[in-house]
Amino acid sequence: MNVDLLLGLQWGDEGKGKIVDFLAPRYNMVARFQGGPNAGHTLEFDGIKHVLHQIPSGIFRNDIINVIGNGVVLDPVIFKKEIEALFQFDLKPRENLYISKKTQLITPTHRLLDAAYEKAKGARKIGSTLKGIGPAYQDKVARLGLRVGDILSPHFREKYNRLVEKHCSILENHSMDYQLDELEKDFFKAIDFLKEFSLIESEYFIHDHIASGSKILAEGAQGSLLDIDFGSYPFVTSSNTTSSGACSGLGIAPNKIGEVYGIFKAYCTRVGSGPFPTELFDTDGERMQEAGHEFGATTGRPRRCGWLDLPALRYAIMINGVTQLFMMKADVLSIFDTVKVCVGYKKADGTEMDIFPYEIVDESLEPVYQEFKGWNISLKGISEYDMLPEELKNYVSYLEEKLSVPINIVSVGPDRKETIWRNEVLA
Ligand code: GDP
Ligand code: IMO
Ligand code: MG
Repeated sequence: MNVDLLLGLQWGDEGKGKIVDFLAPRYNMVARFQGGPNAGHTLEFDGIKHVLHQIPSGIFRNDIINVIGNGVVLDPVIFKKEIEALFQFDLKPRENLYISKKTQLITPTHRLLDAAYEKAKGARKIGSTLKGIGPAYQDKVARLGLRVGDILSPHFREKYNRLVEKHCSILENHSMDYQLDELEKDFFKAIDFLKEFSLIESEYFIHDHIASGSKILAEGAQGSLLDIDFGSYPFVTSSNTTSSGACSGLGIAPNKIGEVYGIFKAYCTRVGSGPFPTELFDTDGERMQEAGHEFGATTGRPRRCGWLDLPALRYAIMINGVTQLFMMKADVLSIFDTVKVCVGYKKADGTEMDIFPYEIVDESLEPVYQEFKGWNISLKGISEYDMLPEELKNYVSYLEEKLSVPINIVSVGPDRKETIWRNEVLA
């Protein structure tokens, strides 16, 4: 099979950027299929930390093709900034980055609408990254959106004006202060910049590569519990973050998909609002946040932290058809004498369950925990699985048994090199 998927199984920020970069040399192409600048994917190597938002995480390998797929919503202003930040390195994004003509564009007014809608929600706000994601996908589905291919049309400005007029009439009801002129100046500069890139019929491009035997890694953004259908709705993002999103977001048929790599932290984090049954409000949560440097890569907001949630993880594995698991940030749990895992939830009426239920949003569920002896030593410098402490290996074996999918990578630090194969599976 030619296409493998890499997906986050929790509420995002599992470490997708790091692992895509780590696996990239095994592939000819890395393709993003959904989301947009709400994503923040961190890569660390040679002592430098990079954060990518819309550009696929294969960009640091000049011999790999990178594709932004039709399922993505692209902010040209952020795109220009991201590309310019890459110019100081010996990279060739104009040569190895391709963008689907069907990718939807985020306009400055999408960002304003995002802020207006959030403000109007008051205490029930989603905690959006305010990058215009929701309004841009809304316009896509309403068949009003602008696509990357439109920027090549002589009528682009008219199409843009028509859409923005609609947006401004909505904004009138939201008492928002804004200076559209300035924002538009940057937007149109960025549109000209975007024209310098290869804008393609990406579904044909990808199919031709598949036909000639190329190996493709599809890079997910966000996480399964933020999926528009299966996440903790309405506290979700506006795209399908699960495997089906890769098919529709790249134009790849399901029978072309081979491995589905599911990536999860050894604990849980969440940014923004919404249910989080295992969230810690005590010093353990604060210590986890500090040890894991849990601050959003896109917004800098502190991430909420809690113990690993097995019912949620099993649910994500089921929806995605995960074939291999990668466990991230094992080193962060080194600070604890005891490590806990949620094995089920108890409802207020006393009934217990081990599924991720519909009621998760409106009912408070008390987690039922299994406790483990912690490993309590630094994992710095360990590069072989057998050298890891027994307690950590027991933790991995326990999870693997409960999840019925092999855990093939254990990550023990942010650097590319701090990645341990347990069972190396060649792609
Ligand atoms: P993504 O959105 O899934 O790509 O993840 P983010 O980049 O938003 O967040 C993951 C954070 O954890 C980044 O700061 C990474 O550098 C860092 N990270 C990734 N893997 C590990 C690991 O195994 N241990 C530690 N301590 N940090 C890690
Ligand atoms: P990566 O790819 C973590 C969250 C936001 C908010 C909700 C909706 O780095 O894992 P949106 O801006 O999409 O309308 O926000 O989704 N969110 C993320 N949380 N990682 C992300 O991406 C996220 N992208 C969106 O915090 O709760
Ligand atoms: Mg992130």
